[in-house]
Amino acid sequence: MNIGIIGAGSIGSAIARALARANIRSLLANSRGPDSLAGLVRDIGAPVRAGTREEAASADLVFVAVNWSKLRTALDGLPDWSGRIVVDANNPIEAPLFRPAELHGRVSSEVFAELVPGARVVKAFNHLPPSLVAADPAGAGGRRVLFYAGDDTAAKQQVAALIEQLGFFGLDLGTLAVGGRLLQFPGGPLPAQHLVRLD
Ligand SMILES: NC(=O)c1ccc[n+]([C@@H]2O[C@H](COP(=O)([O-])OP(=O)(O)OC[C@H]3O[C@@H](n4cnc5c(N)ncnc54)[C@H](OP(=O)(O)O)[C@@H]3O)[C@@H](O)[C@H]2O)c1
Repeated sequence: MNIGIIGAGSIGSAIARALARANIRSLLANSRGPDSLAGLVRDIGAPVRAGTREEAASADLVFVAVNWSKLRTALDGLPDWSGRIVVDANNPIEAPLFRPAELHGRVSSEVFAELVPGARVVKAFNHLPPSLVAADPAGAGGRRVLFYAGDDTAAKQQVAALIEQLGFFGLDLGTLAVGGRLLQFPGGPLPAQHLVRLD
């Protein structure tokens, strides 16, 4: 399974670091093109390489970690998602105002899913700060808990397997409508919790 990451900022690069630590290859993309990522990929190391947004989007599993207001542009004009897995690591709030986006009562992942038609969306990697996504999940005396939610059971199983491969303790919260709301930041009760599973 090849992995693409759209968004190479705090969270996108933290995901790339977590994958690299587990020796899993990924392709990282931003809005400014691969050359702008040369220093970052050198710093992360061999398992990650820089590419275009289109290359990242063509992977079997695509993480998206882009500022909420820029998601539409970041995902616009890409080829059909054709059932590929897209991990929504985004939150509907951003600097500098940190004013929650107007979702009209909907779960942010359901709004996000409309931007990637045909994709199997799994919500995950949105509830920890970048430092904890990148850090060794075993560093706190157990396995750091990483929540996920989604409507497609097979897609969730693949994301769960990846979460375990990275060393986290994955916890399935159910559907996007239910689990996505628990995981939502701001508003959900779980993003403020940094939990560790004691094995
Ligand atoms: N930071 C956190 O603590 C945290 C934690 C969990 C989840 N999140 C969520 O993760 C998402 C990203 O946050 P962040 O803190 O990583 O933001 P960030 O550091 O500002 O990085 C945003 C990334 O999105 C890229 N981007 C913007 N427009 C794009 C486009 N049109 N095409 C491709 N890439 C584009 C940027 O590329 P350029 O720089 O080239 O424009 C940049 O690499 C947000 O939805 C945020 O809510 C953040």
